[in-house]
Amino acid sequence: MFEGKKVRIRALEKTDIDEIMRWVNDPEVIDNLLMRYPVSRYQEEKWIERTLDESNIRHKAFALETKEGVYLGGIGLHAINWENRNAEVGIVIGKKEHWNKGYGTDAMMTMLNFAFNRINLHRVYLRVYDFNLRGIKSYERCGFKKEGVLREDLYAHGKYHDTIIMGILKNEFKKSPNDQ
Ligand SMILES: CC(C)(COP(=O)(O)OP(=O)(O)OC[C@H]1O[C@@H](n2cnc3c(N)ncnc32)[C@H](O)[C@@H]1OP(=O)(O)O)[C@@H](O)C(=O)NCCC(=O)NCCS
Repeated sequence: MFEGKKVRIRALEKTDIDEIMRWVNDPEVIDNLLMRYPVSRYQEEKWIERTLDESNIRHKAFALETKEGVYLGGIGLHAINWENRNAEVGIVIGKKEHWNKGYGTDAMMTMLNFAFNRINLHRVYLRVYDFNLRGIKSYERCGFKKEGVLREDLYAHGKYHDTIIMGILKNEFKKSPNDQ
């Protein structure tokens, strides 16, 4: 378990499936993710099983909850590259009523601290769609810098959108978010 100021990152449990199914087909949530098709309970159970498989050293995902134990969503490191010491981070707060309360920024800071200071990664990056202003603002506060743009990478809601690549290096990581 890793504790932030407002959140706790804990091991994913098979019993989290009910909470996950509450958001995993919510268009407002998943429009921001790399998900496009409806997800069944069976598919999600399989995803949890793959995630909990300890032999899978390139993919580590966790559950996210408040310090009071209220389930918020998930966060994880994907495509972990142990030679180059980098990984892609993904985050979702599945309960919309918990957006904009600082949980995401705190969770990301906690994950970065783990990535850089516990498992010695060198660079953490993410992909975010250009319309996800909330996400971009939160990542900037965590110290992520815009590294590149995949132009017109996503087709959604009748038009193309850019995917922005943001990244942060270990020596750029500060323990508190920027006040921007
Ligand atoms: C993206 C996400 C993780 C951010 O977590 P969060 O807890 O909602 O974000 P925070 O409250 O920590 O920070 C959001 C910041 O964006 C700002 N913000 C919100 N809406 C905004 C907008 N439309 N334009 C600009 N800034 C905005 C907030 O004011 C806040 O900044 P502040 O702390 O300086 O006031 C969360 O909203 C989420 O899971 N969304 C759905 C899935 C998703 O987008 N996942 C990430 C895919 S890359």
